[in-house]
Amino acid sequence: MDVSNGSLDLMPSAGVSHVSSRDIPALERDRMNSELDELRKNIDSIDDEILRLLERRANKALEVARVKQSSGWTSYYDPERERRILERLTAAHDGSLSPSAISSVFQEIISACRSIQQSRWPAALGLDEAASGLPPCGLPLAAFDPAQFRTAAEIVVTRMERHLSDRSIRGLRIVDPSALQRAAQALMATGHEGIADCDSRRLAAIIDLYIETGIHVHSPGYMGRQFSGAVPLAAVIDFAGAVLNQPSSFYEAAQLPSVAEQIMAGELNRFIGWDPDRFTMVTTSGGSLANLTALLAARNDKFPRYWSEGGGSVASHPRPAIAVGDDVHYSVSRAAGIMGIGEAQIVRLPLNRHRQICLEQVGPALATAQRRGLRVFCLVASAGTTSVGAFDPIDELADIAREHDAWLHVDGAHGGSLLVSDKLRHKLRGIAKADSLAWDAHKMMFVPPACTLLFYKDKVKSYGAFRQQASYVFDTEPDIYTELDSAAKTFECTKRPLIMSLWVLWAMYGRTLFADKIEYLCELTEQAYQVLRGESDFEPLHRPQANILCFRYSGAPRAAGRVPDLQVAIRNRIKQQGHFFISKIDIDGASALRVVMMNHQITIEHFRMLLDDIRLAARALLGESTTRDRPDHEHRSEP
Ligand SMILES: Cc1ncc(COP(=O)(O)O)c(C=O)c1O
Repeated sequence: MDVSNGSLDLMPSAGVSHVSSRDIPALERDRMNSELDELRKNIDSIDDEILRLLERRANKALEVARVKQSSGWTSYYDPERERRILERLTAAHDGSLSPSAISSVFQEIISACRSIQQSRWPAALGLDEAASGLPPCGLPLAAFDPAQFRTAAEIVVTRMERHLSDRSIRGLRIVDPSALQRAAQALMATGHEGIADCDSRRLAAIIDLYIETGIHVHSPGYMGRQFSGAVPLAAVIDFAGAVLNQPSSFYEAAQLPSVAEQIMAGELNRFIGWDPDRFTMVTTSGGSLANLTALLAARNDKFPRYWSEGGGSVASHPRPAIAVGDDVHYSVSRAAGIMGIGEAQIVRLPLNRHRQICLEQVGPALATAQRRGLRVFCLVASAGTTSVGAFDPIDELADIAREHDAWLHVDGAHGGSLLVSDKLRHKLRGIAKADSLAWDAHKMMFVPPACTLLFYKDKVKSYGAFRQQASYVFDTEPDIYTELDSAAKTFECTKRPLIMSLWVLWAMYGRTLFADKIEYLCELTEQAYQVLRGESDFEPLHRPQANILCFRYSGAPRAAGRVPDLQVAIRNRIKQQGHFFISKIDIDGASALRVVMMNHQITIEHFRMLLDDIRLAARALLGESTTRDRPDHEHRSEP
């Protein structure tokens, strides 16, 4: 089977430069075509030459493997020699190719030669332990061979580098799931009695398919959601974490991650301002889980018998309730449902015109709840709502929570990261008065998901979320090691060492990397808002408070009724066009377009191009001609 075919017909590539032959006079075109033909012939013959040379190189590599075998080498793999080859070649370049391009090409060549050596190595099931003086191993499996690991890693890294270097404007091309399933199945090894060989071409094709069918979070065309393109170093650390596999709920299993959690807690608490001896932080696999954990801690704090006796312990009391802003993330009401707090026990606080909790209406809403027999034990403020990125007035809400003996939890999954910026920290004014804060580092701290930080003002209360005994993991007499165990405070038992990618970025680059990027994204979103204000056919729905902006296309108002839900139809069409990926949302009962600026490579020019694409999409949907004034960027790969 030709595995290289697995993915390739799925999608035409977007954003490729293209000169239409219609634009060039016929004579000139003929001259250009013959010149091109000549150049292409030259390239073809150079390629033939390269191929012959590569085959000669592969044969030499095989000879090397034979010599190594006969001289008793235990492995064909010699990383030091490979390093020297790359060093020599990158030093010898004449300037037409960059050292990193030369290095990538030769890494691929070396890796292909290594695969051939591996396939002919007699002890292909692993190292020859007898010759190495090590005791023989029980089940020698090539899938665990370090040389095979390196070959696979190089294939993936080379592709990731190419992917990261691609700055073209790409959105998301949705592929028919059954076609994708067929393409994926075509890449599966079949017909093997035993363990199949690790086929480099198959692996490369799988990675290519993975890239092609994803949201291109590193492209300036990606403006759709809160996922971020991870800082590449963070991805590398995540990869190391998978190899080292140190689940971080217990100090003994993950010593450095446990200590790194303590360090990051202290670093970030500087911006929150809690008592360093009293506060604590744990990591959770996502903001949703952090919200659930904080709500459990709040409920168990205010209803101390609930954990052991369940709902019956509050039967004769006012029923437990939580109060949330009307735009709160769904994970909060879901958490309430999980805890047995019904929809009717969620007090929804009205919003002001900035879509923040309206302070004037909180008192009356809580009084009504009390009259309905509810005891609001937790008030949830959002620091960056998912819909428009609004920040609730934490300072004032903290005072109200205290008056009502309620816990104040701040859902800062999206906007908690603004704390690291001197310019933007004020959006979370009063955060030191909160009881807990959920903060997703996989959003605006640009690390791979999931990495959520859950902070508590009072470390004692962090043990309140889950109160369990389990002698196989929890020690009743803590010591200097078990003090760093986090499992008693989090839902997860096995948990990836979530903190490592964040800590390493912080350790290597420092706070400013995050602050600069976040400030840029927020400024860019403000500029986008100003652009919209100047366009008569667009209506911004709010002034951005962070990096999220919602708006509507409002051109052709009389024709708009012809297309049911025009904004959603525009969004879908934009997705089909493949240049931009944006999202949609309901605001005050009507659909709107939404952009989330997560990528520092986006400029305001890209945003203007998006507006052009939206106009085109709207005209096409409304049946107008789209050919007359097609924007000239349509086939460009860069603005
Ligand atoms: C404000 C807010 N809270 C919570 C969440 C849930 O976080 P996660 O996706 O990490 O579970 C999100 C996710 O978009 C969010 O925007």
